[in-house]
Amino acid sequence: MNVVMIGAGYVGLVSGACFAEFGARVTCVDKQPERIDALKRGEIPIYEPGLDDLVARNVAGGRLHFSSELAGPVAEADLIFIAVGTPTRRGDGHADLKYVYAAATELANHLQGYTVIVDKSTVPVGTAREVQRLVRKANADAAFDVASNPEFLREGSAIGDFLRPDRVVLGVESARAEARLRELYRPLNLIEAPILVTDLESAELIKYAANAFLATKISFINEVSQLCEATGADVNLVAKGMGMDGRIGSKFLHAGPGYGGSCFPKDTLALIRIAQEHGLSSRIVEATVEVNASQKARMVAKIRQALGGSEADKRIAVLGLTFKPETDDMRDAPSLAILPALADKGAEVVAHDPEGMEEARGLLPDTVRYAATMEEALEDADALVLLTEWNQYRGLDLTRVREHMRGNVFVDLRNVYERALIEAAGFAYTAVGR
Ligand code: NAI
Repeated sequence: MNVVMIGAGYVGLVSGACFAEFGARVTCVDKQPERIDALKRGEIPIYEPGLDDLVARNVAGGRLHFSSELAGPVAEADLIFIAVGTPTRRGDGHADLKYVYAAATELANHLQGYTVIVDKSTVPVGTAREVQRLVRKANADAAFDVASNPEFLREGSAIGDFLRPDRVVLGVESARAEARLRELYRPLNLIEAPILVTDLESAELIKYAANAFLATKISFINEVSQLCEATGADVNLVAKGMGMDGRIGSKFLHAGPGYGGSCFPKDTLALIRIAQEHGLSSRIVEATVEVNASQKARMVAKIRQALGGSEADKRIAVLGLTFKPETDDMRDAPSLAILPALADKGAEVVAHDPEGMEEARGLLPDTVRYAATMEEALEDADALVLLTEWNQYRGLDLTRVREHMRGNVFVDLRNVYERALIEAAGFAYTAVGR
């Protein structure tokens, strides 16, 4: 089975390497030649645990290839996946589909024989049909079907998610396309991973509805965290008690600085826009987005309060910049809202992150300093703000931290620590909803 993966980013590279692991012959194509050159040299352009070994193994096995040219690989392909970015379109919140449509148009003229063109990018309802129209327009004689196969992997555990998915969703219109996709995913039968076959529209909407629901869970518990602060309850216990109910489930019920990343912020906005385009409103998701924005603002206020009412001229050590641990992805990370607000009020911000600092440099204000080590970030700090719960921040040597710092303010925006432990080490502890 010959597979072409258009887009060698977080999703394309992981999916491509995993399909190769399944036994397919995969070519990842990207329009950034430097990305392809790096991959050919064996350098992985993103940080994702285990990806370097997976890629190396499949390249060595002759199953995984990289190319900046579409023509050759597309001509040989049985399946072509479009896994390019679908960022928020500037100005209106809609998903920007220009990369998807460009890919569809570019590939059309190189098709040979029957090919299944699969949208793997997260795209609004109707996109698969538009891809179909564009390919047909560019190549009237092509034999192809369009399918939708949304991706549910999470950065940081992407390979495990892909190889052991909760489900695979296949939106198809023909038995032939379904059979080809099922053949590609056949190794998952061994682990009895459920495959849900739907129409194109349902597959497209499943992805948005799932992400909006998860984002809503986060905003919900963040709203509850405010209630906890007002009433003296502990949001960790409240979430635990809620999550023990099988109908609710314990995942995505962690109060914190608000969701970020490359998916939830853009996919919630896109869902709202899809509803509007159909004359509907998506009030729950609108509230989710609003609560998330106010949660980030609330974190800034929380830090200010912990510092005695003003962050001006205070040195704040921020541990963690990426939107979650085990990724270098800075897209829409809460740090991008919280750090500028602190710097704007005159705080001296010194940040540390195991993987995200290179990316963060171009995105955060110039006044933010980056420390090579965690200890350097903590040196003479008035406050420590734990913003992303990387493992190395979960087991801090509190005595040493205290020795490095000049102040004793400990703001734990991920509720990692127990209050008694931190206070016993001489800190003033602030958390979220506890
Ligand atoms: P990304 O930005 O990391 O990668 C996209 C890649 O596509 C880039 O390397 C870009 O150069 C390339 N590209 C764009 N147009 C191209 C073209 N015409 N030909 C060849 N290459 C082209 O994006 P990411 O994060 O991989 O996301 C891709 C899609 O997957 C998005 O729709 C996203 O919503 C969805 N998704 C992302 C997840 C994530 O955790 N990052 C999880 C599930 C879905």
